[in-house]
Amino acid sequence: MKNYNNILTETEGAIGMITINRPKQLNALNKETIAELHEAFDNFNRDENINVIIVTGSGEKAFVAGADIKEFMNFDAVQGRELAAKGQELLFDFVENLETPVIAAINGFALGGGLELALASHIRIASDNAKMGLPEVSLGVIPGYGGTQRLAQIIGKGRAMEMILTAEMINADTALNYGLVTEVVPQAELMIAAKNKAQKLLKNSPKAQSFAIKALNAAYTKTGFEVEKDLFGQAFATADFKEGTTAFVERRKAEFTGK
Ligand code: CAA
Repeated sequence: MKNYNNILTETEGAIGMITINRPKQLNALNKETIAELHEAFDNFNRDENINVIIVTGSGEKAFVAGADIKEFMNFDAVQGRELAAKGQELLFDFVENLETPVIAAINGFALGGGLELALASHIRIASDNAKMGLPEVSLGVIPGYGGTQRLAQIIGKGRAMEMILTAEMINADTALNYGLVTEVVPQAELMIAAKNKAQKLLKNSPKAQSFAIKALNAAYTKTGFEVEKDLFGQAFATADFKEGTTAFVERRKAEFTGK
């Protein structure tokens, strides 16, 4: 297995496992991590011996706490749009359209880009301490890795609108109730549950599963994703974005002016 700086990969039979491994930053997705994830997903997808992929976060606290705020806080509108477009291409669209099914094992905070990675995965299960949300508007920006589209596809527009506009997190039980995840287990049992789920998938035809993924995905249009990228970029040119990201780094409450 290749050595990466920000992720770990291993295999167990026909299961490929990817662990995002920046626990001190709560596994936040910087550019390098996204590039490494792309490569790892691509390699497992091409490997004929791997028929299911599990993605999780290292440590007991976080799956992924979002895109790396410190990396993008000084970006302008053009760079903001590019961040969303490149991330979608390399990771979020890429995962959603993989031939190999991906199970997200959500072991803690799944926020912003972290929840968006879980949403792009084909199956989501969570540990009972997991917290999920799209807190971007509290930073003066919007979800840019497909969250405005996929959250509504999965839990319905009403609940998605409320989660995105309030920026609040939901717990694992609420996520189960919303259909955002399909199973909740104690944290110590999460990887066992993910592997059990993988074993169920491994009984079936990989070729037919890849066709099924393609057919299910075909129901959703791409227009909304383009609108999301444009508006994500536009948000980077606002005073509220500067205030929101600066307040996060300074560990204070943001004072938004609506400008
Ligand atoms: N980006 C960069 N660093 C992050 C991060 C992120 N998304 N989330 C956490 N960290 C860092 C913190 O800055 C902190 O670093 P230092 O020790 O160097 O200060 C470290 O990880 C530990 O985090 P906290 O001390 O904040 O831990 P906590 O337990 O007090 O709070 C938390 C946990 C509620 C998850 C909090 O860290 C948090 O709110 N994180 C940000 C969540 C967020 O807003 N995510 C959305 C990002 S924007 C996005 O994803 C855009 C997109 O769609 C493309």
